[in-house]
Amino acid sequence: MNTRSVPLKEKNIIFIGFMGVGKTSIGKAVAKKLYRDFLDVDQVIEEEYGMPVPEIFNKLGEKTFREKEKEVIINLCQKKKLHILSLGGGSFLQEEIKKACLEHCIVIHLDLSWDSWKERINLIIDSRPVLKGKSMEDMEELFNKRKAIYADHHSSVLTDSQEIEEVADYIVNSLKWAWELNEPQ
Ligand code: S3P
Repeated sequence: MNTRSVPLKEKNIIFIGFMGVGKTSIGKAVAKKLYRDFLDVDQVIEEEYGMPVPEIFNKLGEKTFREKEKEVIINLCQKKKLHILSLGGGSFLQEEIKKACLEHCIVIHLDLSWDSWKERINLIIDSRPVLKGKSMEDMEELFNKRKAIYADHHSSVLTDSQEIEEVADYIVNSLKWAWELNEPQ
């Protein structure tokens, strides 16, 4: 597909960022405001295997999960279906995924400070196999290390102390500006 010929307005929108930053909640809110369909890639994978992500890691291994993650994302991001997609926090570790997303979609990074993220640990720890058995120091190290994979994006939004609706409104307004400015004459 020649991506240059795809108007900005017709590209899928992808949310990336560390586990628990709010990609799914914010993605859903943005989708609602733009009348688009929302897809959570982890959920698509869970439906394919008929089990939750921790069980996929346990029974089939991380490698199988990552292979399926690549297949699902590359397939979805090239479809011109005006989707909003939320990606798992580790997906951009795979260069092929990163490349395909940046080439075909609008990639929005959701950022959060370590101090704010720390407050959410209890909400997510049981459902994230990557955090299993990690100390606070290990998690902080992973949090900082992962920053490098999210550095490539089309836009980044710091979500600290903001409500889901506020962030979603900001993103929708920014997108509308970009679409207007890039409207073919
Ligand atoms: C992962 C993040 C998770 C999920 C899996 C691995 C990671 O998604 O894909 O547990 O490696 O960061 P969320 O970012 O939606 O939590």
